Amino acid sequence: MNQNWLSWFERQLEIAREKDLNRSIEISPAHRLSRLNKEREIDLSTNDYLGLSSNSAISSLIAASVTHGNGTTAARLAGGTSKLHMDLEAELAKFHGKQACLTFSSGYLANLGVISALIGKDDAIVSDKLNHASIIDAALLSRAKHYRYRHLDMEDLESKLDAATRRHKKVLLVSEAIFSMNGDLAPLREMINLKNKYGALFYLDEAHSVGVRGLHGEGLAAEMGVAKDIDIILATFGKAYAIAGSYIVSDEITVSHLVNTCRTFIFSTSMPIYNIAGCMASLEIIKESSQLRANLNETSKYMRQNLISRGFDIMNSDSHIIPILIGDNSQSLAVKKSLGENGVFVNAIRPPTVPTGSARLRLSLSAQYDNDDMETVLQHIDNLLKPPTTFRNA
Ligand SMILES: Cc1ncc(COP(=O)(O)O)c(C=O)c1O
Repeated sequence: MNQNWLSWFERQLEIAREKDLNRSIEISPAHRLSRLNKEREIDLSTNDYLGLSSNSAISSLIAASVTHGNGTTAARLAGGTSKLHMDLEAELAKFHGKQACLTFSSGYLANLGVISALIGKDDAIVSDKLNHASIIDAALLSRAKHYRYRHLDMEDLESKLDAATRRHKKVLLVSEAIFSMNGDLAPLREMINLKNKYGALFYLDEAHSVGVRGLHGEGLAAEMGVAKDIDIILATFGKAYAIAGSYIVSDEITVSHLVNTCRTFIFSTSMPIYNIAGCMASLEIIKESSQLRANLNETSKYMRQNLISRGFDIMNSDSHIIPILIGDNSQSLAVKKSLGENGVFVNAIRPPTVPTGSARLRLSLSAQYDNDDMETVLQHIDNLLKPPTTFRNA
Protein backbone atom coordinates (compact mmCIF):
# COMPACT_ATOMS: atom_id res chain seq x y z
CA MET A 1 0.00 0.00 0.00
CA ASN A 2 1.19 3.50 -0.88
CA GLN A 3 2.75 5.10 2.23
CA ASN A 4 0.77 8.35 1.87
CA TRP A 5 -2.50 6.47 2.10
CA LEU A 6 -1.33 4.46 5.13
CA SER A 7 -0.18 7.63 6.92
CA TRP A 8 -3.54 9.24 6.23
CA PHE A 9 -5.46 6.23 7.59
CA GLU A 10 -3.18 6.08 10.64
CA ARG A 11 -3.78 9.78 11.36
CA GLN A 12 -7.58 9.29 11.16
CA LEU A 13 -7.32 6.37 13.62
CA GLU A 14 -5.18 8.47 15.94
CA ILE A 15 -7.74 11.31 15.89
CA ALA A 16 -10.51 8.81 16.74
CA ARG A 17 -8.41 7.29 19.56
CA GLU A 18 -7.72 10.74 21.04
CA LYS A 19 -11.49 11.27 21.36
CA ASP A 20 -12.23 7.73 22.59
CA LEU A 21 -14.13 7.16 19.36
CA ASN A 22 -11.98 4.35 17.97
CA ARG A 23 -13.75 1.06 17.18
CA SER A 24 -12.19 -2.38 17.03
CA ILE A 25 -13.66 -5.83 16.44
CA GLU A 26 -13.66 -8.48 19.14
CA ILE A 27 -15.58 -11.71 19.65
CA SER A 28 -18.93 -10.82 21.21
CA PRO A 29 -20.09 -12.34 24.52
CA ALA A 30 -22.98 -14.16 22.80
CA HIS A 31 -20.62 -15.81 20.32
CA ARG A 32 -17.73 -16.97 22.45
CA LEU A 33 -17.24 -20.71 22.01
CA SER A 34 -16.48 -21.47 25.63
CA ARG A 35 -18.62 -19.55 28.08
CA LEU A 36 -17.45 -20.56 31.51
CA ASN A 37 -20.08 -18.70 33.49
CA LYS A 38 -22.83 -18.73 30.93
CA GLU A 39 -25.55 -19.14 33.54
CA ARG A 40 -24.25 -16.11 35.42
CA GLU A 41 -23.97 -13.86 32.40
CA ILE A 42 -26.64 -11.38 31.33
CA ASP A 43 -26.29 -10.22 27.75
CA LEU A 44 -28.10 -6.95 27.01
CA SER A 45 -25.87 -6.09 24.06
CA THR A 46 -27.69 -7.77 21.15
CA ASN A 47 -31.12 -7.38 19.53
CA ASP A 48 -32.23 -10.92 20.42
CA TYR A 49 -35.42 -9.50 21.93
CA LEU A 50 -37.33 -12.78 22.23
CA GLY A 51 -34.32 -15.03 22.81
CA LEU A 52 -34.93 -16.86 19.51
CA SER A 53 -31.26 -16.94 18.47
CA SER A 54 -30.87 -20.18 20.42
CA ASN A 55 -34.30 -21.64 19.65
CA SER A 56 -33.71 -25.29 18.75
CA ALA A 57 -36.94 -25.70 16.74
CA ILE A 58 -35.74 -22.94 14.40
CA SER A 59 -32.25 -24.50 14.19
CA SER A 60 -33.77 -27.88 13.23
CA LEU A 61 -35.85 -26.36 10.44
CA ILE A 62 -32.80 -24.49 9.14
CA ALA A 63 -30.80 -27.75 9.18
CA ALA A 64 -33.60 -29.62 7.37
CA SER A 65 -33.81 -26.94 4.67
CA VAL A 66 -30.35 -27.64 3.26
CA THR A 67 -31.91 -30.43 1.17
CA HIS A 68 -33.16 -27.51 -0.97
CA GLY A 69 -29.55 -26.50 -1.70
CA ASN A 70 -27.13 -23.92 -0.32
CA GLY A 71 -26.85 -20.41 -1.77
CA THR A 72 -29.24 -19.27 -4.53
CA THR A 73 -26.29 -17.92 -6.59
CA ALA A 74 -28.43 -15.34 -8.35
CA ALA A 75 -30.51 -12.21 -7.81
CA ARG A 76 -34.27 -12.62 -7.42
CA LEU A 77 -35.14 -11.65 -11.01
CA ALA A 78 -32.27 -13.62 -12.53
CA GLY A 79 -32.70 -17.17 -11.20
CA GLY A 80 -32.60 -16.55 -7.45
CA THR A 81 -36.29 -17.01 -6.52
CA SER A 82 -37.50 -20.27 -4.94
CA LYS A 83 -41.02 -21.24 -3.91
CA LEU A 84 -39.88 -20.68 -0.29
CA HIS A 85 -39.04 -17.04 -1.06
CA MET A 86 -42.53 -16.56 -2.53
CA ASP A 87 -44.22 -18.42 0.35
CA LEU A 88 -42.40 -16.36 2.98
CA GLU A 89 -43.38 -13.10 1.27
CA ALA A 90 -47.02 -14.20 1.04
CA GLU A 91 -47.03 -15.13 4.75
CA LEU A 92 -45.46 -11.82 5.77
CA ALA A 93 -47.93 -9.78 3.73
CA LYS A 94 -50.76 -11.67 5.46
CA PHE A 95 -49.11 -11.22 8.89
CA HIS A 96 -49.08 -7.43 8.47
CA GLY A 97 -52.47 -7.20 6.73
CA LYS A 98 -50.88 -5.78 3.56
CA GLN A 99 -51.21 -6.89 -0.06
CA ALA A 100 -47.58 -7.65 -0.84
CA CYS A 101 -44.09 -8.11 0.55
CA LEU A 102 -40.52 -7.99 -0.74
CA THR A 103 -37.52 -9.49 1.08
CA PHE A 104 -33.96 -8.11 1.15
CA SER A 105 -30.59 -9.34 2.39
CA SER A 106 -30.48 -6.72 5.15
CA GLY A 107 -32.41 -3.83 6.64
CA TYR A 108 -29.68 -1.45 5.55
CA LEU A 109 -30.08 -2.57 1.92
CA ALA A 110 -33.87 -2.35 2.09
CA ASN A 111 -33.85 1.21 3.43
CA LEU A 112 -31.16 2.27 0.97
CA GLY A 113 -32.87 0.74 -2.07
CA VAL A 114 -36.55 1.29 -1.31
CA ILE A 115 -36.29 4.93 -0.24
CA SER A 116 -34.08 5.84 -3.20
CA ALA A 117 -36.52 4.06 -5.54
CA LEU A 118 -39.51 5.97 -4.15
CA ILE A 119 -38.06 9.47 -4.52
CA GLY A 120 -35.62 11.24 -6.81
CA LYS A 121 -33.92 14.57 -7.26
CA ASP A 122 -37.14 16.57 -7.74
CA ASP A 123 -38.73 15.14 -4.58
CA ALA A 124 -38.32 15.60 -0.83
CA ILE A 125 -37.75 13.35 2.17
CA VAL A 126 -38.88 14.52 5.61
CA SER A 127 -37.02 12.51 8.21
CA ASP A 128 -36.63 12.45 12.02
CA LYS A 129 -33.17 13.74 13.04
CA LEU A 130 -32.46 10.50 14.91
CA ASN A 131 -33.39 8.13 12.07
CA HIS A 132 -30.98 5.26 11.40
CA ALA A 133 -27.84 5.74 9.28
CA SER A 134 -29.37 3.63 6.47
CA ILE A 135 -32.22 6.16 6.15
CA ILE A 136 -29.79 9.09 6.08
CA ASP A 137 -27.70 7.33 3.43
CA ALA A 138 -30.85 6.53 1.42
CA ALA A 139 -31.78 10.22 1.45
CA LEU A 140 -28.33 11.11 0.11
CA LEU A 141 -28.48 8.40 -2.56
CA SER A 142 -31.95 9.50 -3.70
CA ARG A 143 -30.70 13.07 -4.31
CA ALA A 144 -34.05 14.30 -2.97
CA LYS A 145 -34.13 17.45 -0.83
CA HIS A 146 -33.55 16.28 2.75
CA TYR A 147 -35.63 17.93 5.47
CA ARG A 148 -34.72 16.73 8.98
CA TYR A 149 -37.14 17.58 11.79
CA ARG A 150 -36.24 17.69 15.50
CA HIS A 151 -36.61 14.29 17.12
CA LEU A 152 -40.33 13.50 17.66
CA ASP A 153 -41.20 17.21 17.43
CA MET A 154 -44.58 17.29 15.66
CA GLU A 155 -44.58 21.07 15.26
CA ASP A 156 -41.25 20.96 13.50
CA LEU A 157 -42.46 17.98 11.42
CA GLU A 158 -45.49 19.98 10.30
CA SER A 159 -43.40 23.00 9.35
CA LYS A 160 -40.99 20.78 7.35
CA LEU A 161 -43.90 19.00 5.62
CA ASP A 162 -45.43 22.35 4.80
CA ALA A 163 -42.16 23.66 3.32
CA ALA A 164 -41.51 20.42 1.44
CA THR A 165 -44.98 20.14 -0.13
CA ARG A 166 -44.83 23.77 -1.31
CA ARG A 167 -41.66 23.06 -3.27
CA HIS A 168 -41.90 19.37 -4.24
CA LYS A 169 -44.59 17.19 -5.81
CA LYS A 170 -43.64 13.94 -4.05
CA VAL A 171 -42.85 14.03 -0.32
CA LEU A 172 -41.83 10.97 1.68
CA LEU A 173 -42.14 10.97 5.47
CA VAL A 174 -39.77 8.49 7.16
CA SER A 175 -39.51 7.51 10.81
CA GLU A 176 -38.47 4.67 13.04
CA ALA A 177 -41.28 3.25 15.19
CA ILE A 178 -39.16 2.48 18.28
CA PHE A 179 -35.94 4.48 18.03
CA SER A 180 -32.93 2.21 18.07
CA MET A 181 -30.68 4.25 20.36
CA ASN A 182 -33.28 5.97 22.59
CA GLY A 183 -36.06 3.39 22.89
CA ASP A 184 -38.73 6.09 22.61
CA LEU A 185 -41.80 5.78 20.38
CA ALA A 186 -42.94 7.73 17.34
CA PRO A 187 -46.41 9.32 17.85
CA LEU A 188 -47.90 7.44 14.91
CA ARG A 189 -51.44 8.82 15.05
CA GLU A 190 -50.26 12.43 14.90
CA MET A 191 -47.85 11.56 12.12
CA ILE A 192 -50.61 9.87 10.11
CA ASN A 193 -52.81 12.96 10.48
CA LEU A 194 -49.97 15.12 9.21
CA LYS A 195 -49.06 12.84 6.32
CA ASN A 196 -52.73 12.85 5.25
CA LYS A 197 -52.98 16.62 5.60
CA TYR A 198 -49.93 17.15 3.35
CA GLY A 199 -50.46 14.21 1.00
CA ALA A 200 -47.11 12.61 1.88
CA LEU A 201 -46.24 8.91 1.70
CA PHE A 202 -45.41 7.39 5.13
CA TYR A 203 -42.53 4.87 5.40
CA LEU A 204 -42.17 3.35 8.87
CA ASP A 205 -39.05 1.46 9.96
CA GLU A 206 -40.24 -1.13 12.51
CA ALA A 207 -36.83 -2.81 12.87
CA HIS A 208 -37.04 -2.75 16.68
CA SER A 209 -40.78 -3.26 17.13
CA VAL A 210 -41.81 -6.19 14.92
CA GLY A 211 -41.82 -9.33 17.05
CA VAL A 212 -41.93 -7.27 20.23
CA ARG A 213 -45.08 -5.14 19.94
CA GLY A 214 -48.61 -5.95 18.75
CA LEU A 215 -50.85 -8.86 19.70
CA HIS A 216 -49.00 -11.32 17.47
CA GLY A 217 -45.78 -9.32 17.15
CA GLU A 218 -46.86 -7.39 14.04
CA GLY A 219 -45.26 -4.22 15.41
CA LEU A 220 -46.06 -0.86 16.96
CA ALA A 221 -48.39 0.34 14.17
CA ALA A 222 -50.51 -2.79 14.63
CA GLU A 223 -50.49 -2.38 18.43
CA MET A 224 -51.79 1.16 17.97
CA GLY A 225 -54.37 -0.01 15.42
CA VAL A 226 -52.93 2.16 12.62
CA ALA A 227 -51.03 -0.31 10.40
CA LYS A 228 -53.50 0.20 7.56
CA ASP A 229 -52.63 3.92 7.53
CA ILE A 230 -48.90 3.34 7.07
CA ASP A 231 -48.01 3.12 3.38
CA ILE A 232 -44.84 1.05 3.70
CA ILE A 233 -43.57 -0.87 6.73
CA LEU A 234 -40.01 -2.15 7.00
CA ALA A 235 -38.96 -4.92 9.38
CA THR A 236 -35.66 -6.73 9.81
CA PHE A 237 -35.03 -10.45 10.28
CA GLY A 238 -31.84 -9.73 12.22
CA LYS A 239 -33.43 -8.60 15.48
CA ALA A 240 -36.49 -10.28 17.10
CA TYR A 241 -36.56 -12.90 14.29
CA ALA A 242 -32.94 -13.67 15.20
CA ILE A 243 -31.95 -14.67 11.63
CA ALA A 244 -30.76 -12.06 9.05
CA GLY A 245 -32.28 -10.03 6.23
CA SER A 246 -35.32 -7.77 6.05
CA TYR A 247 -38.57 -7.05 4.24
CA ILE A 248 -41.05 -4.36 3.40
CA VAL A 249 -44.82 -4.76 3.16
CA SER A 250 -47.11 -2.46 1.20
CA ASP A 251 -49.75 -2.56 -1.54
CA GLU A 252 -49.31 -4.55 -4.74
CA ILE A 253 -48.67 -1.59 -7.03
CA THR A 254 -45.96 -0.13 -4.80
CA VAL A 255 -44.24 -3.52 -4.49
CA SER A 256 -44.40 -4.05 -8.28
CA HIS A 257 -42.85 -0.60 -8.72
CA LEU A 258 -40.03 -1.63 -6.35
CA VAL A 259 -39.48 -4.94 -8.16
CA ASN A 260 -38.83 -2.86 -11.27
CA THR A 261 -36.82 0.00 -9.78
CA CYS A 262 -35.23 -0.90 -6.44
CA ARG A 263 -31.56 -1.38 -7.20
CA THR A 264 -30.59 -3.17 -3.95
CA PHE A 265 -33.32 -5.72 -4.79
CA ILE A 266 -32.58 -6.08 -8.50
CA PHE A 267 -28.78 -6.16 -8.39
CA SER A 268 -28.08 -8.29 -5.31
CA THR A 269 -28.02 -12.06 -4.77
CA SER A 270 -31.16 -13.29 -3.03
CA MET A 271 -31.12 -14.71 0.49
CA PRO A 272 -30.06 -18.37 0.72
CA ILE A 273 -32.82 -20.94 1.22
CA TYR A 274 -31.64 -21.87 4.73
CA ASN A 275 -31.97 -18.20 5.67
CA ILE A 276 -35.52 -18.07 4.26
CA ALA A 277 -36.41 -21.31 6.07
CA GLY A 278 -35.13 -19.80 9.32
CA CYS A 279 -37.22 -16.66 8.82
CA MET A 280 -40.33 -18.74 8.12
CA ALA A 281 -39.77 -20.84 11.25
CA SER A 282 -39.12 -17.73 13.32
CA LEU A 283 -42.27 -16.02 12.01
CA GLU A 284 -44.40 -18.95 13.14
CA ILE A 285 -42.88 -18.79 16.64
CA ILE A 286 -43.19 -15.00 16.85
CA LYS A 287 -46.93 -15.23 16.15
CA GLU A 288 -47.33 -17.58 19.12
CA SER A 289 -45.04 -15.71 21.51
CA SER A 290 -47.48 -13.53 23.44
CA GLN A 291 -46.03 -14.78 26.72
CA LEU A 292 -42.47 -13.84 25.71
CA ARG A 293 -43.70 -10.38 24.69
CA ALA A 294 -45.50 -9.97 28.01
CA ASN A 295 -42.33 -11.02 29.92
CA LEU A 296 -40.23 -8.58 27.94
CA ASN A 297 -42.64 -5.71 28.53
CA GLU A 298 -42.79 -6.53 32.23
CA THR A 299 -39.00 -6.64 32.77
CA SER A 300 -38.55 -3.54 30.60
CA LYS A 301 -41.04 -1.61 32.73
CA TYR A 302 -39.36 -2.85 35.92
CA MET A 303 -35.95 -1.77 34.66
CA ARG A 304 -37.09 1.64 33.41
CA GLN A 305 -38.87 2.43 36.69
CA ASN A 306 -35.86 1.37 38.77
CA LEU A 307 -33.40 3.40 36.72
CA ILE A 308 -35.64 6.49 36.81
CA SER A 309 -36.19 6.19 40.57
CA ARG A 310 -32.40 6.11 41.03
CA GLY A 311 -32.13 9.38 39.10
CA PHE A 312 -30.69 8.11 35.80
CA ASP A 313 -31.63 9.78 32.52
CA ILE A 314 -33.12 7.06 30.30
CA MET A 315 -33.99 9.53 27.54
CA ASN A 316 -37.78 8.97 27.47
CA SER A 317 -37.44 5.28 26.69
CA ASP A 318 -40.81 3.58 26.65
CA SER A 319 -39.68 0.18 25.43
CA HIS A 320 -37.25 -2.71 25.83
CA ILE A 321 -34.41 -0.50 24.54
CA ILE A 322 -33.19 1.45 27.54
CA PRO A 323 -30.35 3.97 27.29
CA ILE A 324 -28.52 5.34 30.32
CA LEU A 325 -27.19 8.75 29.33
CA ILE A 326 -23.56 9.22 30.36
CA GLY A 327 -22.38 11.98 28.01
CA ASP A 328 -18.65 11.34 28.09
CA ASN A 329 -17.20 8.80 25.61
CA SER A 330 -14.43 7.41 27.81
CA GLN A 331 -16.72 7.07 30.85
CA SER A 332 -19.25 5.17 28.76
CA LEU A 333 -16.54 2.77 27.63
CA ALA A 334 -15.23 2.36 31.18
CA VAL A 335 -18.67 1.50 32.62
CA LYS A 336 -19.35 -0.95 29.80
CA LYS A 337 -15.98 -2.62 30.48
CA SER A 338 -16.58 -2.88 34.22
CA LEU A 339 -20.09 -4.27 33.74
CA GLY A 340 -18.67 -6.84 31.31
CA GLU A 341 -16.10 -7.94 33.90
CA ASN A 342 -19.09 -8.66 36.16
CA GLY A 343 -20.86 -10.71 33.48
CA VAL A 344 -23.30 -7.99 32.38
CA PHE A 345 -22.87 -7.11 28.72
CA VAL A 346 -24.19 -3.82 27.34
CA ASN A 347 -23.13 -1.53 24.51
CA ALA A 348 -21.46 1.84 24.91
CA ILE A 349 -22.92 3.97 22.13
CA ARG A 350 -20.79 6.89 21.02
CA PRO A 351 -20.80 9.45 18.19
CA PRO A 352 -21.32 9.36 15.27
CA THR A 353 -24.02 6.78 16.11
CA VAL A 354 -25.49 9.32 18.57
CA PRO A 355 -24.99 13.12 18.76
CA THR A 356 -21.76 14.45 20.28
CA GLY A 357 -21.92 14.67 24.08
CA SER A 358 -24.69 12.08 24.37
CA ALA A 359 -22.66 8.87 24.72
CA ARG A 360 -24.68 6.30 26.59
CA LEU A 361 -25.02 2.73 27.67
CA ARG A 362 -27.61 0.89 25.61
CA LEU A 363 -29.42 -1.92 27.38
CA SER A 364 -31.49 -4.00 24.97
CA LEU A 365 -33.58 -6.32 27.05
CA SER A 366 -34.56 -9.82 26.07
CA ALA A 367 -37.50 -12.04 27.05
CA GLN A 368 -35.03 -14.65 28.26
CA TYR A 369 -34.35 -12.57 31.40
CA ASP A 370 -36.65 -11.83 34.35
CA ASN A 371 -36.88 -9.21 37.10
CA ASP A 372 -34.33 -11.10 39.25
CA ASP A 373 -31.82 -10.79 36.43
CA MET A 374 -32.64 -7.08 36.20
CA GLU A 375 -31.98 -6.77 39.96
CA THR A 376 -28.52 -8.26 39.39
CA VAL A 377 -27.88 -5.71 36.64
CA LEU A 378 -29.11 -2.89 38.89
CA GLN A 379 -26.80 -3.99 41.71
CA HIS A 380 -23.80 -3.84 39.40
CA ILE A 381 -24.93 -0.45 38.09
CA ASP A 382 -25.29 0.78 41.70
CA ASN A 383 -21.71 -0.26 42.38
CA LEU A 384 -20.38 1.55 39.33
CA LEU A 385 -22.50 4.59 38.60
CA LYS A 386 -23.72 7.48 40.69
CA PRO A 387 -26.78 9.31 39.28
CA PRO A 388 -27.15 11.36 37.28
CA THR A 389 -24.19 9.67 35.62
CA THR A 390 -20.82 9.83 37.26
CA PHE A 391 -18.67 6.78 36.95
CA ARG A 392 -17.55 5.90 40.50
CA ASN A 393 -14.03 4.94 39.42
CA ALA A 394 -13.54 8.07 37.30
C1 LIG B 1 -33.84 1.30 12.76
C2 LIG B 1 -32.98 0.39 11.95
N1 LIG B 1 -33.24 0.25 10.64
C3 LIG B 1 -32.49 -0.56 9.87
C4 LIG B 1 -31.42 -1.26 10.39
C5 LIG B 1 -30.58 -2.13 9.50
O1 LIG B 1 -30.95 -3.46 9.62
P1 LIG B 1 -29.92 -4.63 9.28
O2 LIG B 1 -29.10 -4.84 10.50
O3 LIG B 1 -30.79 -5.78 8.92
O4 LIG B 1 -29.09 -4.16 8.12
C6 LIG B 1 -31.13 -1.16 11.74
C7 LIG B 1 -30.00 -1.92 12.30
O5 LIG B 1 -29.52 -1.76 13.35
C8 LIG B 1 -31.92 -0.30 12.54
O6 LIG B 1 -31.66 -0.13 13.84
